[in-house]
Amino acid sequence: MNKAVIGLQWGDEGKGKIVDFISEDFDLVVRYQGGNNAGHTVIVDDDTYKLNLIPSGVIRGKKCFLGQGVVLDPNHFYTEYNQIRKKIDDPKIYLSSNISLILEYHKQLDIINESILNSEKKIGTTSKGIGPAYQDKVGRKSIKLYDLKSRNRIEEKLYSIKKFYDPILDSFNESKINVDQTVSDLLNFYDSVKELIVDNSLIKKEFKNKKILFEGAQGALLDLDHGSYPYVTSSNTVSSNIVIGSALQVEYITVGIFKAYSTRVGNGPFPSELFDDIGNYIAEKGLEIGTVTKRKRRCGWLDLVSLKYSCEINRVKELCMTKADVLNDLSEIKLCKSYNSNKYENINFSESDILESLSLVDSDFEVFQSWGNFNDLNKFETLPDNLKKYITYIEDYLNIPIKIISLGPERNQTIIR
Ligand code: GDP
Ligand code: IMO
Ligand code: MG
Repeated sequence: MNKAVIGLQWGDEGKGKIVDFISEDFDLVVRYQGGNNAGHTVIVDDDTYKLNLIPSGVIRGKKCFLGQGVVLDPNHFYTEYNQIRKKIDDPKIYLSSNISLILEYHKQLDIINESILNSEKKIGTTSKGIGPAYQDKVGRKSIKLYDLKSRNRIEEKLYSIKKFYDPILDSFNESKINVDQTVSDLLNFYDSVKELIVDNSLIKKEFKNKKILFEGAQGALLDLDHGSYPYVTSSNTVSSNIVIGSALQVEYITVGIFKAYSTRVGNGPFPSELFDDIGNYIAEKGLEIGTVTKRKRRCGWLDLVSLKYSCEINRVKELCMTKADVLNDLSEIKLCKSYNSNKYENINFSESDILESLSLVDSDFEVFQSWGNFNDLNKFETLPDNLKKYITYIEDYLNIPIKIISLGPERNQTIIR
């Protein structure tokens, strides 16, 4: 059966590690949304791979497809593709011809957008031009990969884009759109990657009845419609976007992935956030530094209330928990099980003011005793009892089995049940 690995928190749950781990059994690995705001780190023996756009299945030599829901920065893709070619022999990457491009002015607009907000209202974007690129897609202005076949077509689109955006760029002292330079860059880019560009129909035909693995980017709580708006990314990260973003009308099982604690990079509500030494300790031990922007990730206890919501909106059938090893040395580990009461149905997760105003009390947390270090990483049965209690509590609360437990960044630090 096809599978989708979807982040259930605010991103960085370990999607890259798990996609690499399970991709062995699949024929094609697909990204269907987001862009190079994503940072998926995969460690294999002595090699560390930091992937932003290319699906993590590439490391095992799997065929990889970037669907039309992705926004693609040509310069970034070209660099990432060349880096991966140094490590992987003849990587097989397909790019949907219907992909919308991120151009220089999108990055300028991303920075302008942030600059006009008061400091406490800033989103804290990755500055990769993601929001403005999706705005152009919805506004029917995007330059698509298929446009790059024709100089006239690029020029025609760019001239109207220029008319629209130059006054804004100019008023913020940003350089205006340079049509000649952009056309020439895009034509060069097209020359280098045209063999990778395919029609969706070709992918559908070639991978009919083959096993497909979908790799989510970001997490459910950053979803444009379901997350804490406006502190979200600009794409739908939930699994129901897979069919639209990949154009592959296939069935799949959703594997929801979460860390044994919570992190968030950028601004926005975070009910179980820790502002004390424990939060700092988790950040340090968990190496919680953003891959894309090198910002320190905010840390907190695992929040089962929002996790339950994420499981529902993604129709999660199986769970994967990562990074419990980071909590090994803590004397107490807490789980957030309610927001002042158990009426989580009344919390609107897309209304950030309400979430922001929550202030959790002791009775909102279930407390677990230290589980210490563990040696045998291959079997669930031999894990410390206190860690097993933690896992069972989460499964019972969510009523979904945790089938994969990751206890370190390496492939062999993974338990399958
Ligand atoms: P993604 O964006 O969801 O792919 O996650 P990131 O790659 O941004 O962040 C996860 C980080 O944790 C990476 O550096 C992984 O190498 C690392 N990692 C993944 N699983 C585990 C785990 O079980 N334990 C520990 N300690 N690190 C892990
Ligand atoms: P992966 O795939 C964590 C966050 C940004 C910011 C918000 C909007 O590695 O889990 P954007 O640049 O997308 O407009 O920023 O979303 N964000 C992520 N946080 N992991 C990610 O991806 C993220 N991609 C975007 O920090 O708060
Ligand atoms: Mg990440």
